[in-house]
Amino acid sequence: MKIFIDTADIKQIEEALQWGVIDGVTTNPSHVSKTGRPAADVYRDICGAVKGPVSLETIALDAPGIIKEGRALAALGENVVVKVVNTVEGLKAVRALSSEGIKTNVTVTFSPTQALLAAKCGATYVSPFVGRLDMFGHVGMELVRQIRTIYTNYGYKTEIIVAAVRHQTHVLESALCGADVCTMACDIIRQMFEHPLTEIGIQNFLNDWKKVPLK
Ligand code: E4P
Repeated sequence: MKIFIDTADIKQIEEALQWGVIDGVTTNPSHVSKTGRPAADVYRDICGAVKGPVSLETIALDAPGIIKEGRALAALGENVVVKVVNTVEGLKAVRALSSEGIKTNVTVTFSPTQALLAAKCGATYVSPFVGRLDMFGHVGMELVRQIRTIYTNYGYKTEIIVAAVRHQTHVLESALCGADVCTMACDIIRQMFEHPLTEIGIQNFLNDWKKVPLK
């Protein structure tokens, strides 16, 4: 399973890239807003630093506007994936952008039938937001399992990006159910490296090593 980092913070991205486990980046307007920087500068920095797919989100809500923005974003780099909201207008734009060879990520997806439509329109990726569903008493990961079944049943090539990930159990369940990608905050990726038993195990080895005679 691929791991994407979900942020527009170039410092976090650069740090995480050094860990050697990051396959791509997803951003959204909220992440860009938190940087306090112009979007053009943020996008230039991210596209310059990352080789894998970088999702950059369109803001327009009508298909012609999304297509125009999508083309401009795609021109920023070969690895740019145009993020488009899951609406009628959004999916019309996805169909058009896909026919031009522009990669798309259909975002704010909350139902399996929305995901089916995204695949039918040729989306490269679909992003179900599991954590936000959990907040409303649903089981977000159940949506991912349903999308996996639908895509496998019909051979859709659209990749599933599990998004709005809140903890490592989301990551685990994503991998177990065959999601293609999980995108998450820097902190969650960092936590995945950590386990208290690993720390204790290392300390025990180091303590015992001190007792080994030098000669
Ligand atoms: C994914 O592409 C989104 O940027 C992200 O996961 C949004 O989720 P959140 O704002 O609920 O964390």
